[in-house]
Amino acid sequence: MSKFMDWVDARFPATKMWEDHLSKYYAPKNFNFFYFFGSLALLVLVNQIVTGVWLTMSYTPSAEEAFASVEYIMRDVEYGAILRLLHSTGASAFFIVVYLHMFRGLLYGSYQKPRELVWLFGMLIYLALMAEAFMGYLLPWGQMSYWGAQVIISLFGAIPVIGDDLTQWIRGDYLISGITLNRFFALHVVALPIVILGLVVLHILALHEVGSNNPDGVDIKKHKDENGVPLDGIAFHPYYTVKDIVGVVVFLFIFCSIVFFFPEMGGYFLEKPNFEPANPFKTPEHIAPVWYFTPFYAILRAVPDKLLGVIAMGAAIAVLFVLPWLDRSPVKSMRYKGMLSKIWLLLFCISFVILGVLGVLAPTPGRTLLSQICTFLYFAYFILMPFYTRLEKTKPVPERVTG
Ligand code: HEM
Repeated sequence: MSKFMDWVDARFPATKMWEDHLSKYYAPKNFNFFYFFGSLALLVLVNQIVTGVWLTMSYTPSAEEAFASVEYIMRDVEYGAILRLLHSTGASAFFIVVYLHMFRGLLYGSYQKPRELVWLFGMLIYLALMAEAFMGYLLPWGQMSYWGAQVIISLFGAIPVIGDDLTQWIRGDYLISGITLNRFFALHVVALPIVILGLVVLHILALHEVGSNNPDGVDIKKHKDENGVPLDGIAFHPYYTVKDIVGVVVFLFIFCSIVFFFPEMGGYFLEKPNFEPANPFKTPEHIAPVWYFTPFYAILRAVPDKLLGVIAMGAAIAVLFVLPWLDRSPVKSMRYKGMLSKIWLLLFCISFVILGVLGVLAPTPGRTLLSQICTFLYFAYFILMPFYTRLEKTKPVPERVTG
């Protein structure tokens, strides 16, 4: 075996990669609950790719047959229903995991120097993931697939001068048709998965170049033993690989319970109108995107003007990209930041959740007002950040991790 590895290593850096990224990658020893979600995101990504490939074997991307082919998968293909529900539940699980993963970044200042690029690659993944989910949602060709896509694509029509031509270019037709379905299929199963996989590699390479942050936000490279191993670090393999398996088991327990017993999740994971085939002549009573898009949808609706609404929605995502440069705090972790940072993070999270709920519901004057207040708080969290992070009094950061 070792002779074989020598032969390989002389031609390909297999052992070097194993050591650099696993057996000699020293991660802080105080990782907590929130550090499970990176590896869980990888797990869900693999689930989506594997189940997606199998679904593609029986799915037909045409306006005439798409809906029926999904029914065929659900009823006649062996294990078809499980494959489909693993994939549809996986989409929601992906966003739950990624939102918690991003929240960890906010909590411990993981986006701060020197991890800005880790954050930026993460944000590009998030964008690609939203596009991937949006396009995947058209494929079952149900009522909500059709009308959801109709609403979102028509938003591009609000852009002055080029708006109408742009929407037509995206659809490839004067209305959403089999042509749109076909191109979304190509992008969903080939182009975007490649982009996402590539970005995930870059994300992890960037992280391993600088090393992981931790709940104390302490730089573990400052204190090393005589062999250059950080005193507060432990080898990723076997310590964190084993620990991550615990997270995987708990996650799979919850995930499988949903897949087997509540795959529709009360209409949040699979929406009710999507059990009817797409009908361009009949608009569903109430159109709402899937839950993971609803906070941004609520921001869009909070602004009375369509173009300004689209701009606000874009800005809500764009502002996350510049987060590393908005936070001027001398400390990383919320444990040592001041009261203002804590209050603003709390307000931000509450607003995000309320916006998410409002985005599912039909608008009323009261709800619109609430969504305006939450939109204001959402942006205020970012815009005021350079001020409150600089003004507030921080606590002294310990030299070593506290566990
Ligand atoms: C497919 C989606 C993603 C995958 C597979 C993924 C994977 C990972 C993995 C394996 C880690 C190291 C383990 C950990 O710290 O939990 C990590 C760290 C990190 N990720 Fe992601 N990630 C994804 C999306 C994102 C997104 C959307 C963001 C934010 C915009 C992000 C920001 C970060 C940050 C800041 C770190 C460093 C955290 C620290 O050291 O404290 N990631 N990611």
